[in-house]
Amino acid sequence: MYKLRRLKLDDLELRVQWMNDPRVYETMHFVPPITLEKTQDWFRNNVGNDTRMDFVIEEDGVVCAMDGLTGIDPKLRKGESYTIVDPNYKGKGIGTRTLFLKSIYAFEIGILNKIWAFIDADNIASIKMCERIGYKVEGILRQEVVRESGLIDRYYMGCLEDDLKKDAFAYEVINDEIILC
Ligand SMILES: CC(C)(COP(=O)(O)OP(=O)(O)OC[C@H]1O[C@@H](n2cnc3c(N)ncnc32)[C@H](O)[C@@H]1OP(=O)(O)O)[C@@H](O)C(=O)NCCC(=O)NCCS
Repeated sequence: MYKLRRLKLDDLELRVQWMNDPRVYETMHFVPPITLEKTQDWFRNNVGNDTRMDFVIEEDGVVCAMDGLTGIDPKLRKGESYTIVDPNYKGKGIGTRTLFLKSIYAFEIGILNKIWAFIDADNIASIKMCERIGYKVEGILRQEVVRESGLIDRYYMGCLEDDLKKDAFAYEVINDEIILC
């Protein structure tokens, strides 16, 4: 069983471990090393910050992904999505379920109208994960990201509440948490 809940201080050690893993940071445009001390400061500074929501996903009580929305604009009711799956468990369907639960949370509890993300054109898993549950490519930023092989494109992907394939997975909303049945 998968459960989405809000990020807690206790989750940060694992978050830092994942963020310093090249299988995570290479597609996410942040620069390691990420320290636990600075991440704890970041967490405390963001308590009560309504412009972001950070979550974890548990599978049978074990954290398997972290997810969130940043830059939430209350007037436009939109926010930017990020998703990180435990690097040892990529490609097992966790990312798709995580993005789905976060999207349900955003639309049903966070009352957002739109979720969006920039995704590098070679991040196939991320693009497929988004498309599987209804996100659409809204635009392509050409030759925006550098790789050893040269410049590649970056996609702007978006999802409105009506786009989300709500029947992709069965779920239940319980207070501030969502369970994948
Ligand atoms: C991107 C990420 C979140 C995807 O999560 P995941 O659990 O690995 O992905 P899933 O297992 O749910 O797979 C999603 C889709 O991609 C496909 N896929 C997974 N890994 C793939 C790979 N290496 N190459 C091609 N396709 C892949 C799956 O088959 C699935 O497609 P389908 O629905 O058509 O079967 C995860 O790989 C990750 O954390 N990457 C590092 C951080 C990152 O890049 N985050 C996204 C940017 S914000």
